Amino acid sequence: MKFIVTEDYEAMSRTAARVISGYVSSHPDCVLGLATGSTPIGLYRCLVEDYEAGALSFKDVTSFNLDEYRGLDPQHDQSYRYFMEHNLFSHVDIDPARTHVPDGACPDAAAACAAYEQSIAEAGGLGLQLLGLGHNGHIGFNEPCESFPAAVHPVELTESTIQANSRLFDRVEDVPTRAITMGIGTILKARRILLIAGADKREIVEKALTGPITPWVPASVLQLHRDVTVITCGE
Ligand code: F6R
Repeated sequence: MKFIVTEDYEAMSRTAARVISGYVSSHPDCVLGLATGSTPIGLYRCLVEDYEAGALSFKDVTSFNLDEYRGLDPQHDQSYRYFMEHNLFSHVDIDPARTHVPDGACPDAAAACAAYEQSIAEAGGLGLQLLGLGHNGHIGFNEPCESFPAAVHPVELTESTIQANSRLFDRVEDVPTRAITMGIGTILKARRILLIAGADKREIVEKALTGPITPWVPASVLQLHRDVTVITCGE
């Protein structure tokens, strides 16, 4: 595992963008696993800048997002599809048909999950997976639980995640309580993993990446992957 501690959020975002743009430049038709949340916003801004400067193209890139709320329309401004359109997809030359976000609107969640796992496999698997980190150690929406989920699956969000995400909604009652997420097995199959975590995650970063490997701290499983880069920041 490679740890990079940067000075501040800007430096973390720029350093992470360099990892992704380097990967895309050397693998132009790669499959990127992407994350939403507050942490990667700066990183996506840097990627858009690189694209606008002519230094990066997503023309042949395929993307799969980690997760999506269930029951939110993709046009809803808190859906993860909307987040990706707003922060990255609409600003770069990625082919919209190659961008994938789990189908949170499908009434048959099990079918949507199976279809998503299969699409990832058919695309050749994830090349580089970007991850953020929840304060409870979750990655994607894999919440602390008794075992590591293998594949894309529907989840009930924990109270702490609902509370954390409520900052983005008018009222806590508006936060969806269900989601679809890649499983831990889906994530671990990625050839490379890039985890970014801001200064507020210092405690959980240490617990997850140096403590015991347990599904009660889902990110601890990353200790078993052979190509993980962790970028954090001091403030
Ligand atoms: C988002 C995701 C989540 C977030 C995590 C951290 O797609 O999968 O695991 O990465 O909740 O969120 P922020 O960055 O908002 O602290």
